[in-house]
Parts: sequence; structure tokens; C-alpha cells
Amino acid sequence: MFQLEGVKYKNILDIKQLSIPANKITCIVGESGSGKTTLLKLLNKMISCSEGEIFYNNDAISTINSIELRRKVVMLPQVPAVFPGTVKENLLIGLKFSEKPAVNDEKLSAVLNMVQLNKPLDEDADKLSGGEKQRLALGRVILMDPEIFLLDEPSSALDEDTEQNIIEKLVHYIKETNKTLIMVTHSKKIARAYADNIIEIKNGRVLN
Ligand SMILES: Nc1ncnc2c1ncn2[C@@H]1O[C@H](COP(=O)(O)OP(=O)(O)O)[C@@H](O)[C@H]1O
Ligand SMILES: [Mg+2]
Repeated sequence: MFQLEGVKYKNILDIKQLSIPANKITCIVGESGSGKTTLLKLLNKMISCSEGEIFYNNDAISTINSIELRRKVVMLPQVPAVFPGTVKENLLIGLKFSEKPAVNDEKLSAVLNMVQLNKPLDEDADKLSGGEKQRLALGRVILMDPEIFLLDEPSSALDEDTEQNIIEKLVHYIKETNKTLIMVTHSKKIARAYADNIIEIKNGRVLN
């Protein structure tokens, strides 16, 4: 689904060839500073390659409108944004940004349940802990219903049990709905347990 050909980004990434399959769970692992976040950003055109090309379903992404691409390929950043307002407003804001219709409270509660955030919809989002904010932002992305989820260490602020639980639910959801997950993770355990495909990056290069 994604095909990288001779991709360089500044002196940070140098990837001769890489394929990322559709409808699978791909985990990206590697030391801090190796280029994992940079790779995710290239995939939804938050940044563009200095050299080479990335293909999305055989179309060069340089030729795809960025807004169109980001409706299908949604990234959850490592430090997710939380906006002033309630939990509900924070969940709905992703739909608003991507010009999709709002959903009812029942659906919002179902998503909160999926990310194990047991908070009322009218709770002030600012009061949430770091881990809770991370789950809130994950819920926001799930609501946006992308084809491809790019998640940058989505469980880094969570304890191991919660992490395991949420990733398990997410993976189940991805498989059930035939979506694609590309996830950076520090956890070898998570990668081993759930990945169909593991990409290891070292100093900006993919290890084979
Ligand atoms: N916009 C940028 N300009 C220059 N250097 C950057 C930029 N973003 C990240 N870097 C550097 O690129 C390397 C890879 O960063 P990053 O992709 O964030 O690594 P990782 O996510 O694997 O920890 C790091 O050395 C980082 O300091
Ligand atoms: Mg990173």
C-alpha cells in the first residue's frame, strides 16, 4: 500500500526500498532518534522527501492533495494535542477538522470505552492526566475513521496492563474493519504480540 523508493529526508532518513502492506499491523521499532517519527510524518505528507518518492496505492504522494491524503491517513502524534474544552469537544474536533459529520453521544461513549477512558463527556479535558489525554487523542483518531492509522508511541504514557488492553482492542478493531495500522512502539512485547510486519530503523536506515 505504501511503497518507498530511494527515499531520503535531509540527513535523517535514507531508505532504499520499503513496502508497508495494507490491512496489516506494522510496528516500527528502533532507538530514540533513529528516524521513526520522521518516517510517519513522510507517510501523511506532514513533511516531504528530499529525494525519492513514496507511493500510496501506486500513486506518487507528491501528486496527491495533502488534505485528501490526510482524510485517509491520520497521524496521532507522540505528544497529542488537547484543546481547551470538554472531553466531548475534544473527541469531536477531529471530525470537524476533517469536515466529517458529528456523531451522537452513544458513539462517543463507545469510543471512550474502547480506549478505556472512564470519564464523563462533559469533563474538562484539561483535568485529565497525561495518559488519559493520550487515550482521548486516540479516541479522536478512531472517530475520524481513517483507512490508515499512523500512531506514534500511542501507549508511551500508559502502564503496562492498560497498554496491553488498549492495543489489543485497537488491533481487534483494525482487523475487524479491514484497516491498516502503522505504529511506532518502544515495546518489543507489543511488537512481538501484535505485529504482522516489523520495521526496524537504525540511524535512519531500515534493517533487514
Ligand atoms: N525537523 C527536523 N529538522 C532537523 N532534524 C530533525 C527534525 N526532526 C527530527 N530531527 C532529528 O532527526 C533524527 C530523527 O528524529 P525522529 O524521527 O524524531 O526520531 P525517533 O522518532 O526515532 O526518536 C533525530 O536526530 C532528530 O533530532
Ligand atoms: Mg519519535
